[in-house]
Amino acid sequence: MEYGVSWYPEHKTAADFQHDLDLLGASGFTVVRMAEFAWTCLEPEEGRYTFDWLDQAIDALGDRGIRSILCTPTACPPAWLSAEHPDILYMDNRGVRRPHGGRRSYCYSHPVYREHAARIGAEMARRYGRHPHVLGFQLDNEPAQEGTGRCHCPVCQDAFRIWLKRRFGSVEALNQAGGMVFWNQTYTRFDQVALPVNTIEVQATDLIQAYFENPSLRLWAERFASEQQIEFQNIQVRAMRPETDKPITTNATGLATNSIDAYASCRTLDFYAFDYYPSLLDPISVAPYAFARGVKRQPFWLLEFVSGGGHRLSGSGRSQAWPGALQQSVVHAAANDAALVAHFQFRTFPFGAEQLNYAIVDADGVPRRRFRECSDTAEVLRKLSPWLDNSALDSRVALLFDYDALWALHMKPVNPDFTPLGYLEQLVRELASFGVSADILDARQIPETPKQYRLVVLPALIVFDRESQARLKAYAASGGHVVASFLTSVKNRDNVGYKEPLPSGLQDLFGLAVAEVDPVFPHTVSAVETTGATATCGQTASWLECLELDGAEAWAVVAEGFRRGAAVVARNRFGAGQSWYCGTRLSGAMARAFWQTVLAEAALLVPELTVPLPEGCQLLWRTHRDGTPLLFAFNFTRQDQSIALNGSFTLAVGTQLEQTALSPALDAASCSPAVSLDKAMLKLGPFRWALLRSL
Ligand code: GAL
Repeated sequence: MEYGVSWYPEHKTAADFQHDLDLLGASGFTVVRMAEFAWTCLEPEEGRYTFDWLDQAIDALGDRGIRSILCTPTACPPAWLSAEHPDILYMDNRGVRRPHGGRRSYCYSHPVYREHAARIGAEMARRYGRHPHVLGFQLDNEPAQEGTGRCHCPVCQDAFRIWLKRRFGSVEALNQAGGMVFWNQTYTRFDQVALPVNTIEVQATDLIQAYFENPSLRLWAERFASEQQIEFQNIQVRAMRPETDKPITTNATGLATNSIDAYASCRTLDFYAFDYYPSLLDPISVAPYAFARGVKRQPFWLLEFVSGGGHRLSGSGRSQAWPGALQQSVVHAAANDAALVAHFQFRTFPFGAEQLNYAIVDADGVPRRRFRECSDTAEVLRKLSPWLDNSALDSRVALLFDYDALWALHMKPVNPDFTPLGYLEQLVRELASFGVSADILDARQIPETPKQYRLVVLPALIVFDRESQARLKAYAASGGHVVASFLTSVKNRDNVGYKEPLPSGLQDLFGLAVAEVDPVFPHTVSAVETTGATATCGQTASWLECLELDGAEAWAVVAEGFRRGAAVVARNRFGAGQSWYCGTRLSGAMARAFWQTVLAEAALLVPELTVPLPEGCQLLWRTHRDGTPLLFAFNFTRQDQSIALNGSFTLAVGTQLEQTALSPALDAASCSPAVSLDKAMLKLGPFRWALLRSL
């Protein structure tokens, strides 16, 4: 487990450099991330390299036992390059170029910028690719962040036309695939096609209100822009690989930005790495971790992680963490399979766009509470290492994720109340409340058998192709359990609706067809009942599908009104497996009852957890190499919490408390006031955690 921070030696006076080094040396950090915005310091004019300051930083850190992650500096083009080639600058969907002076001001398609990016990357790899104190490389910084994932410059327009031509061959085929006959959008030549002005991008949506461009063209444009950025990344990967055998990755934005297909981008990268800034006052959402684990089906890196509160870039403040919360958040990430966690960042900047922003150490360089908590955390991670290194998370549930489906639902949301990511988070959270971890997998990679993943969940996969339909059925036939929500398999990959009853291609799997769909608004809410319980599908229900059963058995039906008795949730047997179709967004007690049944039937209920977890607490199981279950418990609340556990445990590592690996059954008297355990009850103070080992 690597633990560290971002650090900016290029900002430092000689005295600050030395002061920071002393603190870093004392911190217990094992890794420092540098240089992502330092192009001009590395190359003040084209072809003249000044790497000595970075050499010095890497060596000085290495002398203190700290390895470096070096970032290619392409997120901020140097002024000399922007001035010489103003057409490398990013153009947004209004046709406005980003001037030099902020960051991420470049076009990822531009051949000149691509050439310079590959060159500086190769130069860094040549110099540091075999350096003993260098751990690996990060490309760029948060690609597509801050609304820079959908360039509309002339180079991108041309590239889009070429992309379409390559895909469709003829303009007639394009017209056919996208239904361009609608509203007279038929093209007669490729050069008539332009990138749609409306994009789904965060901070760039709805340029022209009520201008409904062709949804197929829009989806192709999203996919095109994602591929262009992946190619920008891969050009650098190809330039650097021959010079280094160290890992190369980039710091993606997890589930925040979503304008680059992470599964596709990671094919050429060694790790999935992302940046995460959860609030430390609230329970940390595990959905980004479920996603990060699923991207490459391996542990991931957190290259930027929250470091506390104070000022922030947007101008609005960020709350400080309670004592213990910062440490708990790092342990929580590690338990969730982060192999590296690096805080952003070490020492508050006095200047620049991020002046006075939160950091581990304030601008005055005095190490205070956050620094001390990080040092303690470094020590705790050393104690946790043998446990983490010798255990695995072993998720048994796979949620499927598809960018086309996500983008399609952003373009045409079925209900302003519904966001596909919000729904995904909800499902991960509901599963986690049963102590069940999930991985979020690429929908194009449906497992063949239930060997690892016993349950596969489709959350509103409105775009679902024929191949995936066949794979899903093969998975269920071989004994897998499947849960699909409303809005499953409605459209093909060109964002065109299937002309057959829904869920298209999956009626036999679910033993039903969708009879009628209805958005759920506050004034149209209806109750749904199941054996023993009635629940109102509140405003959060978002959508209702009434089902015509053909082999399936109803689990929940509409309880009132003209649809009374209509099936909404149904289960079906399929081959050796079982499938569930959930025609509305369940919540509260009914969602709990639903998962209780599904998980029980898939043999996924955790025997140690028989009582619901207190609100704001999380449990996470890992399996030790010797087969023993390890249990991480977290309290993300500001109160003491008691977690009832069924079974006997010993405390392995806990906040302010540690016993050796094979300690005898816990002696409650030896516990710190913050964590204690008796046979049935784990008590955790505010923002305290513990690692338990099953006896
Ligand atoms: C990230 C970014 C960092 C820094 C940080 C501030 O998105 O990669 O460079 O700006 O936010 O909170």
